[in-house]
This record gives sequence, structure tokens and C-alpha cells, in this order.
Amino acid sequence: MNRVVVIGGGVLGAQIGLINAYWGKDVTFWLRSEDSVGRTRPKIKRYSELMLNDLKSAKALLGDGAAKYPHGLIKDWDGMTEEKLDELIARASENLANNIHIELDLAKALEGADLVIESMAEDVEAKKAMYETMRDKLSENTILATNSSTLLPSMFAEYTGRPEKYLALHFANNIWRNNTAEVMGHPGTSKEAYDAVVEFAGEIGMVPLQLHKEQPGYILNSMLVPLLSSAQALWAKGVADPETIDRTWELGTSAPMGPFKILDVVGLQTAYNINLMKPETKVEGSVNYEISRLLKEKIDRGETGVNAGKGFYDYTKK
Ligand SMILES: NC(=O)c1ccc[n+]([C@@H]2O[C@H](COP(=O)([O-])OP(=O)(O)OC[C@H]3O[C@@H](n4cnc5c(N)ncnc54)[C@H](O)[C@@H]3O)[C@@H](O)[C@H]2O)c1
Repeated sequence: MNRVVVIGGGVLGAQIGLINAYWGKDVTFWLRSEDSVGRTRPKIKRYSELMLNDLKSAKALLGDGAAKYPHGLIKDWDGMTEEKLDELIARASENLANNIHIELDLAKALEGADLVIESMAEDVEAKKAMYETMRDKLSENTILATNSSTLLPSMFAEYTGRPEKYLALHFANNIWRNNTAEVMGHPGTSKEAYDAVVEFAGEIGMVPLQLHKEQPGYILNSMLVPLLSSAQALWAKGVADPETIDRTWELGTSAPMGPFKILDVVGLQTAYNINLMKPETKVEGSVNYEISRLLKEKIDRGETGVNAGKGFYDYTKK
């Protein structure tokens, strides 16, 4: 699959388009308005620079077998040399500059697309409306994938007009480093479409992680969310402090980061929003109420995580 259309140019949409362009795919962003174009262009520029900088920084990692090189940009680290990295950087600059197009006309954008990746905001009605608008404009063979993190493909399959060619292809933020691609069909997805998407994910530097059935939260969040909730509950109940909880997890499982270090990366505002969705949070005296209260205190102090320089840990100290 070579001609890829990305619907939506937000945080993830921009990154998805770029990783496709980097690996030589012909990418068209469909955006709904000139205002969207104005918001998406700076994102494309910023993420292109971050990707290129990571490739350049990888030179300092040469010779380290366990290096944290950008896994989505480099498929084979064994035998990597400075010359090969220079070639990759030159090719990346060219591909990122030449392989990306932006289109406001939906019919034009979709014409001849092999794969459409929908990465619009997490809004059920907006996604349904988008699929209904698209269905008559898609070529017969086009596969349609959603990057939705929390919604299931079976909720939308009937609106796409091509349920057998519709499935979820779920990427992670900072796609060029965190190169997971969870592939999840709904009961009506054909094996051909599923297999084609698994193969495609590998072509664009991702590690395809195959789900055999629908699961809210896919694989990663099905494990991560309960871990983070349990850690916050231990903190809110006063059982132990965040540092001790992290150290317990890290020493006990050899994991590099405990739950509160992960929460600092995710951002405390996101953790707070997720907690608010739980009905018990409104019940005064409940553990979730206490979690919200404690998170809110930190957010009000500006301690929202790594991006703010401080969260559960202080990142301003070296
Ligand atoms: N942010 C993440 O870490 C992350 C990770 C994996 C998957 N996702 C998923 O990716 C999708 C997009 O998330 P994001 O973080 O990029 O969101 P975002 O808010 O950064 O971007 C949303 C994009 O959708 C567009 N949009 C919104 N409503 C629209 C409409 N009615 N018609 C056309 N375009 C519309 C916006 O203009 C914007 O370009 C969501 O489904 C989300 O669950 C997000």
C-alpha cells in the first residue's frame, strides 16, 4: 500500500503522516478548513525537526547495542555506521519535504488511496459523520483504519460502507520512538484487510502487535491503566509515598520506570481527566475522590509532569 491518506492533522495525525512520508509512502492529509491547515503545518514542521534531530543524535549512540535510538526510524541498528546514518538523514530530509500533500477537497484526497487512516478527535458522532461522508468517495479496494484510542471499530463499521475493510491501527505518541502499532479488527473485518495492515505497519517502521479480538484499551492500556490506578490508590490511601511505590515496582520487576514516573510522562492533567470519568470520584471520602483532590493540588501548583519540569519528580535538577 503506497498512497496513504490521513484524516486529521492533530498531534497523532501529524506524526502518522510524517512516519509514512519518512518510509517513502505518498501521504495526503485531508483537513477540514484553512484554519486546520494553519494549525497542522507548524506541527508537521515541529515533528519533522524532532525526527531529524533524533536521527542526528543517534550518532552519539553508535556501538551501544541497547541504545535508545529512534526505533521507528531505524529498522536495523546492528551494523549501523555514521555513513549509513548520514544516508538516512539525507533521505529523511528529502522524503519529509517531498512526500506530504495537504488537501481540503475530500474527494480529491481520497482518490486512489490504498489506505485511509482516520485520526480525528475522539468524538463518536463526528467520526460517524466523517465515515458516512467518505463512504461513496472511496475506491473499492481502499482499506480504512482508525487510530482511535478508546472507541471500538464495531461501533463504526456499519457507517463505513466497507465493514470488511475497516479496522483499528493504533499508534503511540512520539511514533518515531515508540513504534508500536496495535492492529485490531472487529468481527466483520476480513483476514485479507487485517493481514495487509499488519504488513503495512512493518513497512513504516512499526512493530505490529496483533489483537485477535476487540478489546477496549487494546493491549497496552488494558495493562497500563489498572497499574496507574492502583498506584494512585496506594498514594491516596496514604499507604506509601510515590517514590517508595515506584521503587517497589522498579526493584520488584526490573522495570525502568515506576507508575509515578510514567504518570509524569503522561501528564497529571490527563490522569486527572481520566479519574474524573469514574463515577465514584464524586463520592466524598472515596479513594477516587481523594486521588482527584491530590492531583488537583499538584496541577494548581503547576506540577503537571515532565513537560512542566515538575510533577511527582523535579526535572529541573540534573
Ligand atoms: N494523543 C495521543 O497520545 C493519541 C495516541 C494514540 C491515538 N490517539 C487517537 O488519535 C486520534 C486523534 O487524537 P489527537 O491526539 O491527534 O487529537 P488532536 O485533538 O490533536 O487532533 C484532532 C484532529 O481532528 C480534527 N478534527 C476534529 N473534529 C473534526 C471534524 N469534525 N472533522 C474533521 N476533522 C476534525 C482536528 O482539526 C485535528 O486536526 C483520536 O482518535 C485519539 O484517540 C491519540
